[in-house]
Amino acid sequence: MFGFGIIGCGMISSVHAGAIASIDGAELRGVTDIDIPRASEFALRYKTSVKETVEEMLCDDSIDALCICVPSGRHAALAIMCANAGKHVVIEKPMALTEKSAEKVIAACKENGVVGTVISQMRYSEDILRVKEAIDGGIFGRIISVHLEMYYYRTQDYYNGSGWRGTWAMDGGGALMNQGIHGVDALSFIMGGVETVTGTVKTLVRDIEVEDTAAAVLTFKNDAIGTINASVVTYPGYPRQIKINGERGSVILTEKNVTYCDVPEFGDIKPVQSIHSGSSDPSNTPVEGHALQLKDFINAVTTGGKTRSDVRDGCDTIKIIEGIYKSSRDGIRITL
Ligand SMILES: NC(=O)c1ccc[n+]([C@@H]2O[C@H](COP(=O)([O-])OP(=O)(O)OC[C@H]3O[C@@H](n4cnc5c(N)ncnc54)[C@H](O)[C@@H]3O)[C@@H](O)[C@H]2O)c1
Repeated sequence: MFGFGIIGCGMISSVHAGAIASIDGAELRGVTDIDIPRASEFALRYKTSVKETVEEMLCDDSIDALCICVPSGRHAALAIMCANAGKHVVIEKPMALTEKSAEKVIAACKENGVVGTVISQMRYSEDILRVKEAIDGGIFGRIISVHLEMYYYRTQDYYNGSGWRGTWAMDGGGALMNQGIHGVDALSFIMGGVETVTGTVKTLVRDIEVEDTAAAVLTFKNDAIGTINASVVTYPGYPRQIKINGERGSVILTEKNVTYCDVPEFGDIKPVQSIHSGSSDPSNTPVEGHALQLKDFINAVTTGGKTRSDVRDGCDTIKIIEGIYKSSRDGIRITL
């Protein structure tokens, strides 16, 4: 049995608990939160024990790995603390708020010989993998341009009610660092890395510190060019799309499904019954993606391998977003 613990019992933690419960050979062996009544209620719901502090979790030998589900600004420090205690870590996105602190997490994992994975459930979508393999296999020919569109909708109450969302100190950014990071990570994963970014971010509508709208132009390591458009104030919110145009034809991913492709060698496109989308509902995160990632993580811990979304991948994605923020601030193109 592989033992998990969860730090932070808010919205996303139930997805982690659900994912752990769905895996044969995995068990939730304790939860904690600075809000003890909330942790107790959560522990009761998922039939596990509540610990009063993170330190208590770290001393429990039945816990092999900890899922860090607290506000983003606390991820890096907690991940380092867990790694230093010899625990493997599953870190919610973003793994840190800056490249500098992400590097410290990478170093702590390496020094302590523990596996760190950064939640990026898009990397576990069958269709995203098929598109990546098709691009790598040359099925679309040379990739010309890619376009990531993320038109989310979050109300002012979503920010006001949390005490941390929309702040630089705890959210680290808005439309890109919080909601849009999934799409940015998937885009970079599919394309094999970003080379330069030029961006503009603005706070147009919401009363928050961070950006509610962003646009960027990118160049990729494979020579293609691309754009990112992201917003959290586009009512009512639309499914995320990635449009990839190759020399021999194009493919469109809507959320994690291929919804259009005009290159016959790509093979069949499965009809999509419904597009599960968190674009207008922040609580709409299906358990399946997290479950696939946790299985990959357990496999990496037990075999000494690497996960499909490791701490280096998580850091590379933060670099892209930080680069767009810097470009917007300084009015320059950033080479990553
Ligand atoms: N992968 C995804 O699709 C996805 C979706 C939603 C949120 N997230 C990420 O998950 C993280 C948490 O988001 P959320 O929406 O669940 O937030 P939330 O505010 O609903 O929950 C956070 C919980 O952490 C607790 N907490 C805060 N500081 C703590 C500490 N030092 N020790 C222990 N507990 C602490 C809070 O009391 C709260 O219960 C964020 O980083 C967010 O970006 C990821």
